[in-house]
Amino acid sequence: MTRALLAIETSCDETAAAVVTDRLQALSSVVSSQVELHARFGGVVPEIASRAHVRLVGPIVSQALDEARVTAGELSAVAVTRGPGLVGALLVGISAAKALAMGLGLPIVAVNHLEGHLASVAMDEPDMAFPQLALLVSGGHCILARSPSPGVYERLGQTKDDSVGEAYDKVGRLLGLGYPGGPAIDRLAASGEDSLGFPRPMLREGYDFSFSGLKTAVANYVRANPTLVVEDVAASFAAACMDVRCAKLSRALEEFKDPVVSVVGGVAASPILRSRAAELAKDAGARLLLPSQRLATDNAAMIGIAAWQLLDRRGGLGDRFDFGPLASWPLSWGDRDGGTLGGVSWDAGAPTP
Ligand code: KG4
Ligand code: ZN
Repeated sequence: MTRALLAIETSCDETAAAVVTDRLQALSSVVSSQVELHARFGGVVPEIASRAHVRLVGPIVSQALDEARVTAGELSAVAVTRGPGLVGALLVGISAAKALAMGLGLPIVAVNHLEGHLASVAMDEPDMAFPQLALLVSGGHCILARSPSPGVYERLGQTKDDSVGEAYDKVGRLLGLGYPGGPAIDRLAASGEDSLGFPRPMLREGYDFSFSGLKTAVANYVRANPTLVVEDVAASFAAACMDVRCAKLSRALEEFKDPVVSVVGGVAASPILRSRAAELAKDAGARLLLPSQRLATDNAAMIGIAAWQLLDRRGGLGDRFDFGPLASWPLSWGDRDGGTLGGVSWDAGAPTP
């Protein structure tokens, strides 16, 4: 018999709930974006986000159950994002999930948001081949990782400063494109030219990234050129970001020769990135996994998928109920240069920090 869990995600400015089966299929996935509430501030205001989650979490959970045609009594578990994210925002989802799980007598599963993004490609792929490479590009993160087996992640590189999404959003603000900047820059870039020669930071250095110098180069250009062609700035900036990401991804494909590569996170909604990644994977003879556009940006279905994978690895054990939100929760990275590879760093059923 198919089992289903309810997943809740409130780590930033989306209130989301989903019902996901143990076959990793989303029976529903409801996402209420607060973009309009934050747009006039040019970024997410944590207090406003928390208050909106308080208002929205109940109705969004009800909607997710209704759309899935599943009653609360038919659920097998409740999953929730524990971090990384805005503490006040996370707390709302965690409290709602605990109340539901306790009231219904169900196990609760605390999920790492990053692991959710990485799991987003498993939706219609329950039996995936390993090892895999993964590029996680979102508003808060830019990580190149390698996964030798399910739930185990080895970090190859990460950003030293801004994430790609952050750089997109900051450049979007500089160009007066509103928040979030990513989709708008992508759209404009399609009709502009990569003619401004912006730098490609750390292009040839290892697997780490840096985007703040690029962002400053764009800011300097914008200040010095009041009559700029906004499409060309967008195209030049997007091309610089793309070149750096693709150089690292293709080097990793060449070095590790892994059969599967995925590109996940909000920025993976970008059509240009999706098609460049497809070319790179094809050249390397690797299979490319991409989340659908809806699963790329923040949602609860990916949290539900990651939760089933966790439950599977732990023989169905949930977490203790005494966990709180984590502003920062790096995946338990192994060290590429000789360290041990680890899964997520807690024991099932053990007290959590
Ligand atoms: O994964 P996500 O929804 O939230 C975080 O976990 O941070 O990622 C949001 C980021 C934002 O920075 C947004 O500008 C970017 O994803 N984004 C895009 C596109 N859609 C969203 N960036 C480039 N092209 C897009 N089409
Ligand atoms: Zn995210």
